[in-house]
Amino acid sequence: MADGVADVLAEKQDLARRRAYETPLATLNPAWASAFRDDAHWPYFERLRAEDPVHWTPDSNYGAFWSITRYNDIMAVDTNHQVFSSAKGIGLSPKPSVLPPEAFVERESEPDEDANSFINMDPPGHDIQRKIVSPAVAPARLLEMAPQIRERAGLILDSLPVGEPFDWVDKVSKELTTMTLATLFDFPFEERRKLTMWSDTMTTAPGHGPWNTYDERRKLMADCRAYFIKLWNERVNAEPAGDLISMLAHGPETRHASMDQYFSNVTLLIIGGNDTTRNTISGSVFALNRFPQQYDKLRANPALVPSMVSETIRWQTPLAHMARVATQDFEFGGKRIREGERVVMWYVSGNRDETVIEDPYAYVIDRPHPRQHLSFGFGIHRCVGNRLAELQLTIIWEEILKRFPEIRLLEEPKRSYSIFIKGYEQMPVLIPTRH
Ligand code: HEM
Repeated sequence: MADGVADVLAEKQDLARRRAYETPLATLNPAWASAFRDDAHWPYFERLRAEDPVHWTPDSNYGAFWSITRYNDIMAVDTNHQVFSSAKGIGLSPKPSVLPPEAFVERESEPDEDANSFINMDPPGHDIQRKIVSPAVAPARLLEMAPQIRERAGLILDSLPVGEPFDWVDKVSKELTTMTLATLFDFPFEERRKLTMWSDTMTTAPGHGPWNTYDERRKLMADCRAYFIKLWNERVNAEPAGDLISMLAHGPETRHASMDQYFSNVTLLIIGGNDTTRNTISGSVFALNRFPQQYDKLRANPALVPSMVSETIRWQTPLAHMARVATQDFEFGGKRIREGERVVMWYVSGNRDETVIEDPYAYVIDRPHPRQHLSFGFGIHRCVGNRLAELQLTIIWEEILKRFPEIRLLEEPKRSYSIFIKGYEQMPVLIPTRH
């Protein structure tokens, strides 16, 4: 690994640690995209778990918010949708005063008031809509999809260069997850990389993805919307089929939806099915290189793949947080949360809670209870695609182990600049040889 890069990163991490412990608790703010990019966010959460596990940040680039940082507290919030609502947003968004004026344009018409995707809803609307798309990722459907995912995984792996550096994120992680998502949508296969681009458009900050100006972003999102409306029009006039668009176009509760509402659900599924699994695939290569004894263990015993997959999902925590808004005043962890205040469940912190998970910073692929983690959330919004994500990861690793003795990380990866998507933009690797 290039020493210069590692040294600069280590310096940034030292600085973040000092800042995390020197800032008075009253103003401590853990939401720094730059800290996540530098893998330097850990000390903020370590301190909060120990000193102030239910913590109020009075002001930040994302406004004021509560941080919930311990495992059991996160579970309690996530499973109490009566008090902690999803209807006013499920993430921290930059407050308007930190955005440039060009981020705001007047719309020609008022947005549809009910145009939330179901992750942004409470019951009963949430439950009804979730039920409509669930069959697309139910166990029976996954059994049908598995051979195709395996075949595609094999094709991707067989096309990789041996003995030459390449970017794992682009050639493997993005490719496999986008292929699967294209199958779920029955999206034109040769155009599948559009899904990757639109997902990145939605989840990145200016200059950190496929767009630089808000005008470019609006244009990309308009293209995405037009494309999916075209697909809706085709599917609504055809016989019902098992893909997600057909399910939405024919579902009794969704077929009369406005195009705003339909598009909200599409964007949820694009993001849900893309970044998270992609970053876990990359995270597995990173973690196995950082913990070479675990890599040896896996090579010696490929039956450990499923538990390695779950351990990676915990260790990586591809979505760092989800947020809710309190529907009423509520006593929690000795604090008084007021109606209307935003409450952030930091999964990334709960998955390092040493009182629940033994040696949580270590990556241990044969932990006794590998599915004990917060990465998929809990309660009514628990990830609907969790088994599909595990399936893709299991298959890709079974196929990797058949082909390559080693995937070698060449240098520190480039991490995402985000407090939400915890992942990798680039990861240079080398495959020294094939079996
Ligand atoms: C490792 C991969 C994945 C991770 C870590 C992940 C994580 C999450 C989390 C944290 C939530 C919210 C849970 C909560 O609020 O309690 C969620 C919801 C959701 N995920 Fe995933 N996800 C992954 C893969 C997928 C895939 C492959 C799909 C594609 C179908 C998907 C679709 C969704 C949807 C539609 C929701 C909304 C569920 C609801 O509101 O009822 N996810 N996911």
